[in-house]
This record gives sequence, structure tokens and C-alpha cells, in this order.
Amino acid sequence: MALTVAVTGPTGEIGMAAVRALEADDRVDRVLGMARRPFDPADHGWRKTEYRQGDILDRAAVDALVASADVVVHLAYIILGSRGESERVNLAGSRNVFAATVAAERPGRLVYTSSVAAYGYHKDNAIPLTEEALPRGSSEHYYSAQKAACEKVLRELTDDADLDVYVLRPSIVAGPEATILLRNLPWEKLGDSLPEPVRRFLGAVPGVRPFLPDPGLHFQLVHHDDVASALVAAVCGHGPPGAYNIAGDGDISVRDLARAIGAYAVPVPPEVVSLTSELVDLLPYVPSQAEWIHAVRHPMLMDTSKARRELHWKPRHTALETLEAMVEGGD
Ligand SMILES: NC(=O)c1ccc[n+]([C@@H]2O[C@H](COP(=O)([O-])OP(=O)(O)OC[C@H]3O[C@@H](n4cnc5c(N)ncnc54)[C@H](OP(=O)(O)O)[C@@H]3O)[C@@H](O)[C@H]2O)c1
Repeated sequence: MALTVAVTGPTGEIGMAAVRALEADDRVDRVLGMARRPFDPADHGWRKTEYRQGDILDRAAVDALVASADVVVHLAYIILGSRGESERVNLAGSRNVFAATVAAERPGRLVYTSSVAAYGYHKDNAIPLTEEALPRGSSEHYYSAQKAACEKVLRELTDDADLDVYVLRPSIVAGPEATILLRNLPWEKLGDSLPEPVRRFLGAVPGVRPFLPDPGLHFQLVHHDDVASALVAAVCGHGPPGAYNIAGDGDISVRDLARAIGAYAVPVPPEVVSLTSELVDLLPYVPSQAEWIHAVRHPMLMDTSKARRELHWKPRHTALETLEAMVEGGD
């Protein structure tokens, strides 16, 4: 196997770990990466990787990227953005990548990272969620809705194609180089836009220990290097094509998170989270990022046994170790 692998979004939190893992794998000959920012693979000691600046909204650029690839890995996405911008990139851009891969002669495999969010935050979700559950999405949360919509587009475009399609659904990704969870804490996200008394209440002022509202929820984490090893397994065609839940062993509570970052966990009844999320839905002009409140309404714990059994994937970091690694790396 001497694979050429095209990667959209190689400069992101998962992308960097994924390219590192592809660089280290003897079955991979060449990596072709594309994202919008300037980037030099040599700065990272990468030898197999060629990088070009390009936008997945530009179909010609995507066609050129995938033309000489055996496998296409689609990671480019807007996670924290406005509904409008994210919809354009995530839906129109992903459609370009899927359609270009189907249209190109050479690629035989397509690997797409969806998310636990694709299942949607529903009260009747099974605990744990298996891949049997439909990715229904939640219309009130832009990211969840777009993740479900992307999987639908992917199915429509590839169902009759001669292409092996792997869909990975990671939980929240963390680690020393993946700090989205830290950057998305309430006082980090909304700090400057909040009135002074609310900022004080949230502890978003120097010298005051911040707090995290704790509705008693537990959630999973997966280390970026473990997502990378799952991606490599899919790239190399371990196991049959299909959807795979990806999360480290164990889970963490808001209390674990608060302890790790030096904050207080303040118990709040789950009804308060429900009420707040309903309020967010009702208010006009609420920033799209406030919609992330929906993500903590219900437990979203996944069963990852299919990836372990069929992709022979074994995460090396537990949820708690991943949390600690993220906090150490994010200092
Ligand atoms: N991080 C998580 O917790 C998590 C969890 C589950 C699933 N996922 C999924 O995993 C994938 C990768 O996530 P990530 O954490 O690596 O995201 P990230 O750190 O935000 O990186 C996003 C990547 O996409 C590129 N990109 C964005 N818009 C683009 C465009 N229009 N054209 C070309 N490239 C573009 C970015 O580079 P430029 O800005 O330079 O273009 C960057 O390389 C996404 O699909 C995400 O939804 C992530």
C-alpha cells in the first residue's frame, strides 16, 4: 500500500494530529493538505506533506486536491461561527468535497469526521448511543443540525458511488493541542459582551475564581491523537465502511472539569438548563454561539465498541487523562 491521502483542514486541532499520524505511517506515501491560511509543513518536520492554500467553497480547488488521491479525508469545518458562515462552509463546502470525490476517478475511500452532535440532543436518545441511532440533529443548534445535514448529503451523493465511505463520530476532542472546550467556557466566550454585574457573577474578572453551572451532566472526551489513530485506521481500510462512534474510556463530570481548571462547580437543577435553552430559542438576535447551551441539555454518551471491534481501534487516553492533558497544554 503506497497511499496518497488528500486532507481538507490539515491545520485544525484534529488535522494537525491526523497529518502527524499519517506522516508516521509507512502505508502512506504522500499527504496533500488544503486549508485557507498560509502554512508550511516543513515547520513541523513533515516530509510527505504538500500544502496548498484553498477554500472548500471553490469546487475547482477541491477537484484539483482530490484528483490524485487514493483516499480523501474531509476535516475542514467551522465549529464556532455564526449560523450563516458555518452553514455556507459546512454544507456547501462539504457538498463540494463529497461530490468532487465521487466525480474523481482515483479515490476509492472517503473519510469524513462527523460528530456526536449529529445524533441531536434529544430526550429520548438511548444511553449509550450506538451507530444504530439515526443522526437526527437538533434544529435549534446550528452545529448539530449541520452535522446531521452533512451526513444526509453524504449518503445521497455516495449511496450509488463506487466508494468506501467511513464516517467517524467523535465526542468532544481535547488534548494539549485541542483546547476548544477551554476556549468555549462561558466567561471566555461571552466575557466582554456581558454587563459588568453578570461578569462579576460569572467570575469573569481578574482575581475572582470563576464558576461553572453543573446540571449533573457527564460527558465523553477523546484525545486528538486517538482521533488521529481512528482516522488512520479508516484511511487504511481497517474494517468495513460505515459509521463509527469515537470516544476515550470513561467520562467526566462538570465537577471534574471545574476542578481541573480551578473553577467552582455550582450545582444547578437540569430544569434551569432546559429553561435557559428555551429562552435562547425565543430571544431574537442571540449570537449563534449561545446555541451551544443545547449541547448540555441531555447526556450524550456513545458506545464505542463498534470502532474497537471492527476498526481494531484502541484509544490510549481515558477521558480524565485527556482532560488533564488539555489543561496542562492550555496553560
Ligand atoms: N474539535 C472537536 O471537539 C470535534 C469533535 C467532533 C467532531 N469534530 C469535527 O472534526 C472536524 C475537524 O475539527 P477540528 O477540531 O480540527 O476543527 P478546527 O480546529 O476548527 O479546524 C478546522 C479546519 O478547517 C479549515 N477550514 C475551515 N474552513 C475552511 C474552508 N472554507 N476551506 C478550507 N479549509 C477550511 C481550517 O483552516 P483555515 O481556517 O485555515 O481554512 C482548519 O484547518 C470537523 O468536521 C469537526 O466538526 C470536531
